[in-house]
Amino acid sequence: MKKFVIDQQVEDIELPENLKLNTFLQEFHSDCPHPECSFGFYGFAFGQSPFPVPKPVQDSLINNASKGTYAGVPGIPELREAISRYNKRHFGFDVDSRRIYVGPGTKELIFNLLEILHGTVILPTPAWLGYLPQIRFLKKNYHMLNVRSNGKITPNDLEHLILRLQDRQKILILNNPNNPTGLVYSQLELEEITDVCRKHGILVISDEIYAQTTFDINKFVSMGRIYPEGTFITNGLSKSHAAGGYRLGYVIFPQHTYELRQQFKKILATEYTATSTPIQFAAIAGFHESREMDEYFEITRKIHQIMGEYTFQTLNKMEGVKTTKPEATFYLLANFNTYSDYFLANKISNSQKFSESLIQHPYHIALVGGDSLVLERTDFSARIAFVDYDGQRAMKNYVNNPPKTSSDKIEFVKTNAPKIVDGLAMIQRYLNDLKTKTNSKTSQLSTDTEVTAP
Ligand SMILES: Cc1ncc(COP(=O)(O)O)c(C=O)c1O
Repeated sequence: MKKFVIDQQVEDIELPENLKLNTFLQEFHSDCPHPECSFGFYGFAFGQSPFPVPKPVQDSLINNASKGTYAGVPGIPELREAISRYNKRHFGFDVDSRRIYVGPGTKELIFNLLEILHGTVILPTPAWLGYLPQIRFLKKNYHMLNVRSNGKITPNDLEHLILRLQDRQKILILNNPNNPTGLVYSQLELEEITDVCRKHGILVISDEIYAQTTFDINKFVSMGRIYPEGTFITNGLSKSHAAGGYRLGYVIFPQHTYELRQQFKKILATEYTATSTPIQFAAIAGFHESREMDEYFEITRKIHQIMGEYTFQTLNKMEGVKTTKPEATFYLLANFNTYSDYFLANKISNSQKFSESLIQHPYHIALVGGDSLVLERTDFSARIAFVDYDGQRAMKNYVNNPPKTSSDKIEFVKTNAPKIVDGLAMIQRYLNDLKTKTNSKTSQLSTDTEVTAP
């Protein structure tokens, strides 16, 4: 048989998160013989919006199916203008459409930016796992900045790290709102980070893919407004428009970057020519100002908030569990480290083993463990996504009878997201069982000791 030699660069990269999750679930989630487990698993792992693609976007895609010609490299002008107006209207960020480049997903555009920009990358952790394989693939120097203590970059920690880095250019990856914590940076926090970046000439890639999911949209501030000369903003259709499969993202370049954009154009033309033309036309409807889109954003972010608050409240009531309080996205970061001794007593020695033990019968809980969030392998933190429900049905029920009081909201979760309710109860059961097993082992051990003692 022919032997294929794979480029070392490819062999060296980590499995990206989407592949990692799928492989993990296939490997460890065997079909369960118990009839009560026929539902599969409690899906706290996948970061996919449960809602339907907005109707205007779907309609526009159908209407533009005949557009078979290549688009220009940076994207069709109508879309770049729609994105410019969208940013002004929703995020108060006024930007010339020539600074906007469209690409097949934010992920690809971040990769392209890392390709074109020389420099050491500063990666705050925990992080979305998408960044690290790209950084490694491109053989870039990088440094982690652990923000585990309060979940956000602090100017002091940032400056402390920057002073140790030798490279003439440094690039900070800022993910705001944040995956996995669900936290949102305030204007003041961004200003403090900007002061450090200005002082040391740091570039920022501000991944704002979850901006539109901010529960109180007035709380979201784009880094592009605070640090316009040094920030590359990335955003797209995947999360706010529940259209990850459309593969459409955009980047907004900093001010005064004409030359850089010409170089960027070269990269895009070399790698993928242009983004799909019908998808670009469909996206116009998603960024265009319309009552339908405004309602879509309003309803979906309210539902994310209700699900997030329920998940937050329920997990924090569990003994020893602490989580971040999400203000956006559809995730939170849960800390199970107070259970370390119990994990170790049950041979669960790292976060990978933790995820494996959760997916087994009778628990069937799928979540993203610390190792997939670029945390230490022995950090028993996990990302919990609250999206395992029928989004279309939830939207309909929300419109018919919007929950107002806190008990209405709990009822709403119970009716529309029973798997979230049951899955969280299952996490509690897992923790109880873990304790019981450990305690029975310990008492077994002391009985054994008594018997064998002279
Ligand atoms: C923080 C973050 N950035 C980027 C992406 C990828 O976005 P896109 O689908 O536009 O490539 C994701 C997807 O999960 C994400 O969570």
